[in-house]
Amino acid sequence: MTEPATAPEANAVQNDAPEAEKPFKVEVVIRRYNAETDSEPYWQSYTVDMYSTNRILDALHQIKWEQDSTLAFRRSCAHGICGSDAMRINGRNRLACKTLIKDLDITKPVYVEAIKGLPLERDLIVDMDPFFEAYKEVQPFLQATDKPEKERIQSIADRAIFDDTTKCILCAACTTSCPVFWTDGQYFGPAAIVNAHRFIFDSRDEEASTRLDILNDKEGVWRCRTTFNCSEACPRGIEVTKAIAEVKQAVLRGRR
Ligand code: SF4
Ligand code: FES
Repeated sequence: MTEPATAPEANAVQNDAPEAEKPFKVEVVIRRYNAETDSEPYWQSYTVDMYSTNRILDALHQIKWEQDSTLAFRRSCAHGICGSDAMRINGRNRLACKTLIKDLDITKPVYVEAIKGLPLERDLIVDMDPFFEAYKEVQPFLQATDKPEKERIQSIADRAIFDDTTKCILCAACTTSCPVFWTDGQYFGPAAIVNAHRFIFDSRDEEASTRLDILNDKEGVWRCRTTFNCSEACPRGIEVTKAIAEVKQAVLRGRR
């Protein structure tokens, strides 16, 4: 009786799987503040074990869950949708959940602090009320008097005019990167203007002129100095400065 032939490849050890990445140390320095115990904010350093696919949000979770439960920050979706975790990371406004460790220079500490220009409440949390007050003032909802029997039809071309500004997640990264907003908390700020744009240029809406009047105010679009900080900060890639320029032109025309 002959031995059954054994295919050589069946016994060979397949060892071409990529080697698992080992974690590496990252120093994260966070600007801490607790109004009940601190007279001034201060910087506190933590060291975390990270993988290149981790995000700053993962580093914050590791700190909060394993090292220091007093650290306070906002987050919800963890996937760039809810807009609740905008913060300054190495001096630039970004979403913590969209900032990959591998995209940062980790040979140096990573500095994380709250966004600027809104009242600091605690650690990485600011009071968002002034931001949402400005948002509400531009009437960010569709206003139409007719009551159609079926949906309001809009052409693809008309929809495209305001497509970019529909992407806003109200994270405040743009408004709190704006030097005019830092020095003058009265300015509506880029996010409110972006959301006004979304309805001003909607062919189904009838209150464009009301919003243009609101934004023609001394705290409105004319405070914009076109520094482009807002466009650079936007995690949704919205051309914020362009939207503001389009609203300025509409104000000058007196119509959308
Ligand atoms: S325009 Fe961009 S940066 Fe500004 S609030 Fe909306 S999503 Fe955030
Ligand atoms: S946690 Fe929702 S956008 Fe980052």
